[in-house]
Amino acid sequence: MTTPQQKIGSGFGARSTAEDVLHGIDLSGKLAIVTGGYSGLGLETTRALARAGAHVVVPARRRDVAHEAVGAISGVEVDELDLADLDSVHQFAERFLDSGRDIDIVINNAGIMACPETRVGFGWEAQFATNHLGHYALVNRLWPAIARGRGRVVSVSSVGHRRSGIRWEDMQFERGYDKWEAYGQAKTANVLFAVHLDALARDAGVRAFSLHPGGIMTPLQRHLPRQEMVAAGWIDEEGNPLDPSFKTPEQGAATQVWAATSPQLEGMGGVYCEDCDIAEVVTDDAQGMGVRPHAIDPGQAARLWTLSAELTGVNAFPEPR
Ligand SMILES: NC(=O)c1ccc[n+]([C@@H]2O[C@H](COP(=O)([O-])OP(=O)(O)OC[C@H]3O[C@@H](n4cnc5c(N)ncnc54)[C@H](OP(=O)(O)O)[C@@H]3O)[C@@H](O)[C@H]2O)c1
Repeated sequence: MTTPQQKIGSGFGARSTAEDVLHGIDLSGKLAIVTGGYSGLGLETTRALARAGAHVVVPARRRDVAHEAVGAISGVEVDELDLADLDSVHQFAERFLDSGRDIDIVINNAGIMACPETRVGFGWEAQFATNHLGHYALVNRLWPAIARGRGRVVSVSSVGHRRSGIRWEDMQFERGYDKWEAYGQAKTANVLFAVHLDALARDAGVRAFSLHPGGIMTPLQRHLPRQEMVAAGWIDEEGNPLDPSFKTPEQGAATQVWAATSPQLEGMGGVYCEDCDIAEVVTDDAQGMGVRPHAIDPGQAARLWTLSAELTGVNAFPEPR
């Protein structure tokens, strides 16, 4: 059944932490994959899931950095994965599938934001390729293990999805690049991916969610000139945080951990969350939080799925002939 895109009154909020939302939840015997689980929100997610008893696999673009960040956390395993490289995605998935284990939780958390124009793979724009296409291919490749786990797939989007819908006429920015539009398109794609995956996977007992984690100072901002963050009112000239709405990484990890584990979401899926609750729909030109209609449109979601399948050459749910 389709889940309404409206608040459920979870009792958690913007200041809840990953530890708060896991209170009383035992993840012993569960296996989670957290992409980018060695920096920023991903690192806090890895810590919280492992503390609750889960075995966490952290596929990393920089294995040495990942080992340094999570090596001392019990129940965490590091592997290699570059989401911008389809061969690397394929190889990681093959290694994982060969291990014969089931997957209970996938958190598509890794991402890049507002980078200078960069081309990867077949000349794809890097934010769309890394944030969306890499995760699309990963989940489809891992599908046999995800299906056996009958769990959840959570995609970390952003309020930045409001900056752009899918640019069907120029998805790869061949007619001029805008770093924020490219981030917006990629984050819209994360939401649409969850909408369509949920529709395809729910009969198999797997549910999908997307979310905005909040604003959190992490290495994600590495491509932004300081002056741009000063102008946005995020930091002062010395680099000190100014915006009181910014969350700590522990608070920033809470919504994805809630979406991945909360019994409050049992039987639900396909929805976009924020502040540890399902978000409300707002208009496309609205400022602030909420999900825009362009990001949850089922027709757009199906169209993006078909296109992603063509681009990556992988689809765990082929149409019957
Ligand atoms: N922080 C915020 O305010 C905020 C707001 C809204 C949404 N988000 C979303 O939250 C997610 C996590 O962001 P964060 O703030 O925690 O950022 P972060 O600290 O920069 O972490 C991002 C992670 O993604 C990994 N990654 C990047 N490119 C990759 C690739 N090609 N293959 C594999 N892994 C790759 C990074 O690995 P390396 O370190 O090796 O590059 C890093 O571990 C992102 O999807 C972001 O869009 C964040």
